Amino acid sequence: MIADEIRELATEQGAVILAHNYERPEVQDVADFLGDSLELAIRAKETTADVIVFCGVDFMAETAKILNPDRKVLLPAREATCPLAAALTADMVREAKARHPDAAVVLYVNSTAACKAEADITCTSANAVDVVESLPEEEVLFGPDANLAHFVQRHLPEKRIVPLPSEGHCPVHLTFDIADVEAGHARGDAVVCHPECSPEVQAAADLVASTGGMVREAPRCGAWTVLTEEAMAYRLSRLYPDAAFHIVEGAACEDMKKTGCDDILHALRTGEYDVQVDAAVAARARRAIERMIALPGRSR
Ligand code: 13P
Ligand code: SF4
Repeated sequence: MIADEIRELATEQGAVILAHNYERPEVQDVADFLGDSLELAIRAKETTADVIVFCGVDFMAETAKILNPDRKVLLPAREATCPLAAALTADMVREAKARHPDAAVVLYVNSTAACKAEADITCTSANAVDVVESLPEEEVLFGPDANLAHFVQRHLPEKRIVPLPSEGHCPVHLTFDIADVEAGHARGDAVVCHPECSPEVQAAADLVASTGGMVREAPRCGAWTVLTEEAMAYRLSRLYPDAAFHIVEGAACEDMKKTGCDDILHALRTGEYDVQVDAAVAARARRAIERMIALPGRSR
């Protein structure tokens, strides 16, 4: 079986397989560790493995490489990118900094390494509020997800959050609307949504949480409508087989779906694709990521 071959090769090579909660079920099953973006970044920082096989999208593997410049980090599907991360360029961040010289710059990890190099600190959906709250600056340039920026603003009215760009969105989370929340409530479910969902959906949901937050909070109810990428239901069902998790059909992130077990096997056999980040960019981005990881705080 392909999963056995992967496990054997990973052991032989001292490789750890990290996978995001949105990965295909068969990829989740073969991984050593599954998590949200924050948990994966922390695991990548703490690992002593010689090789990190990162099943996710490119910014996640880049983050692992930035934290481990001397280790090999493999992205099994080179073309797995994130359209939200692509919405922001380093030039846009520099221009915004020039327009808002007193503002802090907080970038969601769903951003390029070049953008992270311009940030004071990074954040994930699990710690965005705590990260912004920790900063002395009142004004905060926050990007690239405008809905996560809204979520932070709602929790921290004393701050002035400037979304950068003004309309950065995840195409998957943009597909949910109030009708999805209502359908969940009509079924008798509690409704949880990711903070990348629209402000209207966030306001109507019972809980707004990162994918790691969903894992932690799921035991609170027996039936959930889960407004995020569809593979999350597999992750939750494996953890809590007695609960019901309903998803919206078709809410799939094409890029997360690009990694299959055949790609993982290919990566282990050939060492492809070896993630590289320019050393000067990585050094500046590392400061912003490590500052986030060092921050004590709650995860949502
Ligand atoms: P999490 O950090 O909540 O896992 O989210 C990552 C992501 O890409 C959401 O679309
Ligand atoms: Fe990017 Fe959205 Fe896919 Fe997450 S779900 S990786 S934000 S496109």
